[in-house]
Amino acid sequence: MTNTNVAWENYSKQKPERRLTNAAGERTWFNWTQYADHGPGAEVLAITPGANVLALGCGKGGNIAHVAALGARAVGVDVSRAQLSAAEERWNGSGVALHHADALRFLTESSEQFDAIYSVFGAVWFTDPGDLLPVVHRRLRPGGVLAFSQRPAIEGCYGCQASYINRSEGEDPLVVKRWDYEPERWLAILHDHGFTTDTARVLAAPPGPRKVGTLVITAHRSG
Ligand SMILES: C[S@@+](CC[C@H](N)C(=O)[O-])C[C@H]1O[C@@H](n2cnc3c(N)ncnc32)[C@H](O)[C@@H]1O
Repeated sequence: MTNTNVAWENYSKQKPERRLTNAAGERTWFNWTQYADHGPGAEVLAITPGANVLALGCGKGGNIAHVAALGARAVGVDVSRAQLSAAEERWNGSGVALHHADALRFLTESSEQFDAIYSVFGAVWFTDPGDLLPVVHRRLRPGGVLAFSQRPAIEGCYGCQASYINRSEGEDPLVVKRWDYEPERWLAILHDHGFTTDTARVLAAPPGPRKVGTLVITAHRSG
């Protein structure tokens, strides 16, 4: 197992399960942000029944299960077996197809065309966009949606950054790489890779003690 895989297995142990229902009482829902009952929903993906939708770094599967509930063919890819086991257990019977793979490898080896590809604090954040965007472009049908969310960049800290995954006291944290840019820079990067960007903005945190917003980007494959 690579250090990155070990890191994500550890992350899985710390990540609490999604609630059984959201504030509206729904059993499945889409959440782009790190805050409960906050931000846009699945409408960002413009899903129609039968659409082919891929989640990169689907984690414990809460969002991709909602995609399946909307009538799409829902495919989730994650590099962590622990995350996928939790997804299989919770969303068994939901119709989601789960794959244990690195996102880059999955996209490179797949021959499928997707109507939408998305990532919520997932593999898009943790993969060099110079490597990932060409293969996302290839696997997205013309006009298809690429949408992703992540924490916004810290001012002055751009490009590849270290992300720490804490372990128990007495153990060093594990480190994974992530890629941070301001919305304007994302616009340029996406444009250079053949995408038209609809929105690239930092959504404010909901009222409360936490102030960090969420970067949400929606783009289309242009040609
Ligand atoms: C912060 S979690 C977010 C999980 C999920 N999207 C959610 O919102 O709960 C990041 C997820 O991306 C997965 N991941 C990270 N890098 C990946 C890669 N290169 N390929 C596939 N999955 C990856 C991790 O295993 C983890 O499940």
